[in-house]
Amino acid sequence: MLTRNDFPSDFIWGTATASYQIEGATSADGRLPSIWDTFSKVPGAVVGGHTGDIADDHYHRFREDVALMADLGVDAYRFSLAWPRIQPSGSGPVNQAGLDFYRRLSEALREKGITPWVTLYHWDLPQPLEDRGGWLERDTAYRFAEYTAHAVRGLGDTVSDWITLNEPWCSAFLGYGSGHHAPGRHEGSRSAHAAHHLLLGHGLAMQEIRSALPEAQAGITLNLYSVRPASDSPEDADAARRIDGLSNRLFLDPVLRGFYPEDVLDDLGETRWFAENAPQSDLDLISAPSDFLGINFYSRHTVSASAAVSAEVSTDAAGVAASVEAPSAYPGSEDVVFVGSGAARTLMGWEIHPDAMLDVLDMSHERAPELPLYITENGSAWEDSVGPDGEIDDIERTQYLADHVQACHDAVARGLPLRGYFAWTLMDNFEWSWGYTRRFGLVHVDYETLERRPKRSGLWFAGFLGGPLATPDGTGVTVSQM
Ligand code: FCB
Repeated sequence: MLTRNDFPSDFIWGTATASYQIEGATSADGRLPSIWDTFSKVPGAVVGGHTGDIADDHYHRFREDVALMADLGVDAYRFSLAWPRIQPSGSGPVNQAGLDFYRRLSEALREKGITPWVTLYHWDLPQPLEDRGGWLERDTAYRFAEYTAHAVRGLGDTVSDWITLNEPWCSAFLGYGSGHHAPGRHEGSRSAHAAHHLLLGHGLAMQEIRSALPEAQAGITLNLYSVRPASDSPEDADAARRIDGLSNRLFLDPVLRGFYPEDVLDDLGETRWFAENAPQSDLDLISAPSDFLGINFYSRHTVSASAAVSAEVSTDAAGVAASVEAPSAYPGSEDVVFVGSGAARTLMGWEIHPDAMLDVLDMSHERAPELPLYITENGSAWEDSVGPDGEIDDIERTQYLADHVQACHDAVARGLPLRGYFAWTLMDNFEWSWGYTRRFGLVHVDYETLERRPKRSGLWFAGFLGGPLATPDGTGVTVSQM
């Protein structure tokens, strides 16, 4: 059975969360609304009308959550700062109470020997900035840099690992394209402008981090997918080129190589806008050296140019089946069909392909051979049930976790510079447009009482890590292939 001892001793094991998904306390201590506060209250936007108003109430229970992580035995905890706590209007004065919360959290983690990894932006844009155009406006990138300067100056003595953005693909194409995420706009290919402004924001934020904290480690987190054609026809190969372009290359190439892929701008019909609005000086900022690349890995896409290829239509990256009501998250490539490959799926409808983790590591490594890589998110949603003894026997999630840990081991054995893995997620939480109906946690949350209870997957992770929650023989829970 694999344990952490089979990995290099400095390999980092952690869990990840995001502010709006867990914190609750949305009007405490000077916090003002973000786009997710607004969006979640739009009828029909989120399943069941759920909102993050209470979520896991982590804002008030963070000490309990830190203790849980210590029991699991993790080295690091990746969480995000809520911009609307730190700079509630998105510009102007800093709210010291907001910074103080994250200082308390960071110090509580450090007391338990857990390293804080901070994401500056995990989708909760202050609403006043959206009212001025949001990420479709270039100015938002400068506002993000200004907020970053406040955050790194306020917390830099206790946090030394920084991630600028989480998954700009989702912010741009689910937020401004399909509208499945906040702010819920339908701007077609203009959503690519949001992608550029997000990446510019990353570049400007990196500058702020470098100047305030020369010793800090900093980078961006992208959601990457292995993309395969459904057949060897030239049409399906082109469909795969398009989806790989929009999902992966549109972000990897500017960040790691300093240019936008021309074929993708052409597919989008945005070549001219980028020529006029994304000058080389922007790309120099965007591609300035990072200390690592964070990768969120969940699944693999199989795509076809023709709906006739398979009756089994799959779901896209938002976990949303292709639907006539919502515009596509792939502007200019609306006709591409996501098909099933027959592999098992999670409750999100995402196919399970642990080996495809190697594909996304390879595509990153190829572009930046020296760059350390981290899996900053990986996990799965299942229909959990609480047994009569109160236990949550989430065998599928445990197996998913074990198989992806094995994939990390294969990556390290192949010589890829993979330096850490963060499981998504510490505890069940607000899963964006799915509300509380999709549980990804290693720890179960009872939304009536807010009681936390480690699931079998959490116990397995503790066994793997040698954390205090491991079973007495030190092996944790075993699963079939480990
Ligand atoms: C990722 C998000 C994260 C969570 C997981 C399931 O796209 O970064 O917040 O929702 O998916």
